[in-house]
Amino acid sequence: MPSVNKYPVKIRVCEPDISELEINYVVDAIKNKEISSIASPVGKLEDAFAEKFGMKYAVAVNSGGSALFLTLKALGIVPGDEVIMPSFTMVATAGAVSHCGATPVFVDSSEKSFNIDPSKIEEKITVKTRAIMPVHAYGEPCDMSKIMDIAKKHNLLVIEDTAEAHGAKYKGKLMGTFGEASCFSFYANKIMTTGEGGMILTNNYELTDKLRHIRGYDFDDEKHFWHKTIAWNLRMSALGAALGLAQLKRLDELVLKRRANAKYYLNGLKNIPGLRFFPEPLNTFCVFWMFGLLAPRRDELMEYLAKNGIETRTFFIPMHAQPIYNDKGDFKWADHYGANGLQLPSASHITKEQKDEVIEKIKEFYANS
Ligand SMILES: Cc1ncc(COP(=O)(O)O)c(C=O)c1O
Repeated sequence: MPSVNKYPVKIRVCEPDISELEINYVVDAIKNKEISSIASPVGKLEDAFAEKFGMKYAVAVNSGGSALFLTLKALGIVPGDEVIMPSFTMVATAGAVSHCGATPVFVDSSEKSFNIDPSKIEEKITVKTRAIMPVHAYGEPCDMSKIMDIAKKHNLLVIEDTAEAHGAKYKGKLMGTFGEASCFSFYANKIMTTGEGGMILTNNYELTDKLRHIRGYDFDDEKHFWHKTIAWNLRMSALGAALGLAQLKRLDELVLKRRANAKYYLNGLKNIPGLRFFPEPLNTFCVFWMFGLLAPRRDELMEYLAKNGIETRTFFIPMHAQPIYNDKGDFKWADHYGANGLQLPSASHITKEQKDEVIEKIKEFYANS
């Protein structure tokens, strides 16, 4: 791993894009003393988010990881169950399953995409399998036609991890609208943010009701301080929701900026021998949450960029390779991506000059070494 943290940073790998609109919304919330989870911005964000995605219900929580965990809990995932997911993901996807006492079952990525390879899913299905959790990594939609077909054939739930893909589409349909439920992260580096936060989308009323209860200690509707289950406080604050409302208004703009970044980088870097990119697959609308590529001598390149004030990040270290999961199966592509991938500065508001500097320094690294 490159020791990139020891140098001063000029260009961050990702930062929130905050305008006057966000500032005004948050200041108004404070002035109105709307700060807790029961204040109006939370409900307003839920309604607006559900409407934006054309879904019936949205449930706001305090993180993307909480969204995944609560959804699995509410859908009745229990010890002994297995949930299929890509190995190439962030730990929250697997952790949500583990926290239910169930077992995450990992599938390799494909040669063309860092997302789950649908052709390798069926061999991992057992009598214990309850669900598939596709992850739309870095803003690229999974091959949902194939995944939904497999789920239907084997009677499995689909829960989309849409943490990194706000606004992405597959065959014209928004990610987060395919499965029984979908989970978004609004962490500060995501395409839209509430600081920390997450959202669950579903068309299932019963599931929504359960989620609303267990995100807040499962207070009984009739008798306060009466609890039918032992639940959690995983609620979103109204300050975060106020920020999120402004960000949601700007979501299309933020997505277009991310896509423009990707186009610019792709164009600027395409002639450097040895680099490999992940262009938009057919029938998809990628949102390029982070612009990623595979680079020879990745760690040296990252160190060189860091020395020049440019912060980058490695791709995920796949879940099968983590000592906490330690699956010795064949994960050729997840391993390859994990070992060679890096993400370039990708904030929505990164300037042309900053992108040019990143491109120049990458060119310089390969020209001089
Ligand atoms: C694919 C994926 N799933 C889940 C999460 C968890 O989101 P949060 O950090 O909001 O808990 C993340 C966060 O980065 C993520 O990238």
